[in-house]
This record gives sequence, structure tokens and C-alpha cells, in this order.
Amino acid sequence: MDSIYDCYTLNNGMQIPCVGFGTYKAMDTDSVEVTKCAIEAGYRYFDTASLYGTEEDLGKAIKESGIPREEFFIVSKLWTDEMGYEGAKAAYERSLKRLQLGYLDLYLIHWPRPSAEYADWKKLDVETWKALEDLYKEKKVRGIGLSNFLPHHIDNILEHCTVKPLVDQLELHPGYAQETALAYLKEHDIQPQAWSPLGRGGRSELMQNPFIMELAGKYEVSPAQICLRFLLQRGIIPLPKSGNPERMRQNQDIFSFEITREDMYRLETMPQTGWLGEHPDFKIPDKKVQ
Ligand code: A2P
Repeated sequence: MDSIYDCYTLNNGMQIPCVGFGTYKAMDTDSVEVTKCAIEAGYRYFDTASLYGTEEDLGKAIKESGIPREEFFIVSKLWTDEMGYEGAKAAYERSLKRLQLGYLDLYLIHWPRPSAEYADWKKLDVETWKALEDLYKEKKVRGIGLSNFLPHHIDNILEHCTVKPLVDQLELHPGYAQETALAYLKEHDIQPQAWSPLGRGGRSELMQNPFIMELAGKYEVSPAQICLRFLLQRGIIPLPKSGNPERMRQNQDIFSFEITREDMYRLETMPQTGWLGEHPDFKIPDKKVQ
């Protein structure tokens, strides 16, 4: 990979850029302006979700950019209150409307169960997945996938599916390497993507971690660039977010250095750092899903 425009090939043959732009936090600020700025900085792959409240602003920014729709790669997700067969189909139409688009490049199930206590999640996931399969077969969406699904949740989908998920979006960064999930995704040819690739919040525990800072000094880059390059070298698509034009550009500048094998192992095995604290199967109070 030499730039954010270089692509991986998904299991249906579709191309996906190797770096995207997350829009979750943008809703705290003027997300039309932030997105316009990100488009200007060169991003074309945008990740949103009905939960984020950023679809309308993203759609507006795309439209006002004057750049042809086909040059963008747009991903959205249905939230837990939109699950089920009919729910998912209606949710897709609502997302398209908010985004003012005729199709999405990827549509994902955001979270594998409405809550940790929700017992019948296997049935609900399969019903929801069937709706996504139908949208895909009807060519209303270019690809379908998952978000925050762990191996046992994906097993349930694979047992019943006719269309295999293309991607799974997880919290992934140095200090939260999720090796079991990554090995599973590799075995099943499902592309991993990383939300919060810098650990929770940019000026986070991870960005200030002495080991990450040591590597930043060694490679003469920022701690954020170490985290993003780490993901790139592992074949994971990072989805960094930033409201700052300088950091938007910095987060694309990860192709001119290489982390050594030894340092990759050290990053992969560092103690848990910067984990947001969300887990689909366990109730953890005061944590916010992405
Ligand atoms: P900012 O918008 O001021 O650049 P998360 O993915 O967990 O939501 O974290 C996003 C946070 O990471 C944002 O607060 C953003 O702050 C920060 N961030 C993005 N890029 C960088 C960077 N290169 N260096 C430091 N912080 C960054």
C-alpha cells in the first residue's frame, strides 16, 4: 500500500480503500464543515451510521463537493433498534435518504445484540442479515458486512448465510489487538476494519503511552502515525477521525516509514491500553458504543 487510495480486495472481488475517515465525533461540531475539510484533505472513504447522526451532513458535504458519487466509498450501519428483517430494510432506505444517495458501498449491522441481556440475539442477527442479503442480491447495496461482531456472533451468521460478510469493524489499536478475532477473520476471509484506531480519543492514554511515544521518537513520526501504521502493516483498515485539517493530513502520511518486525511484535503484545470498555456480551456501565 502506497497511499490511502490503494485498495484491498474483498471476498466478493470488490475493492476497498486501505484508509477511511470516521464521522462519529463529528456530530459534536459542525460536521458538514468537518467533512468538507476531510474531502479537501483527500479522504474519499467515509464511515457513518444511523446512530452517529452524521449521515445528513455527510450527504450534504458530498453533494456540495461536486465530486462524482462513484469516487466516494460510503459505509453506513443500522442500529440495534433497527434490527430484524423489515426493520433493516426500512433502515437502509432511511440512511440512503439522509445521505441523498442512490446506493451505499457497504452496509453493516452495527452491533450483534441489542443488549448484553438480550437472549434471542442469534435469531435476530440472522433475520437482520437476511435483509442485508436481499438488499445485496437486489443490487441496492454494493456490499454487506458486520461491526463489533466477535467470532461466535459471526459463526451464527455463517451457519445461516448465503452471502458471506465482507468486513467486520472492531475496536482495534495497539493495546487492544483482539488477536482471536483477527485470526478468525483471516481464516474466513473477512476484512478487518478499526474504529478508534488511536485508542479512545486522540489525546488518550494510548497517545501518551511511554512505549508509543518512544516509537514515535524512533521513527520520527507522531504517536498517531505509529498506531495507524501498525494497523496498516497488519492489513487492517483504520478509520481515524479528526476535526483538525493538519491532523487529517497527518493521518494519511503513514506510507513513508515501516515499523520493524521486532517493534510490531512489541506493539502486538503490549499491555491493554486505551480500550473503550465496550463488549457486546458483557454489561459495562457508562461506556459508549461506536
Ligand atoms: P482532533 O479532532 O482534535 O484532531 P476516536 O477515534 O476515539 O473518537 O478519537 C478521535 C480523536 O482523535 C479526536 O478527538 C481527534 O482530535 C484525535 N486525533 C485524530 N488524529 C489525531 C492525531 N494525528 N494526533 C492526535 N490526536 C488525533
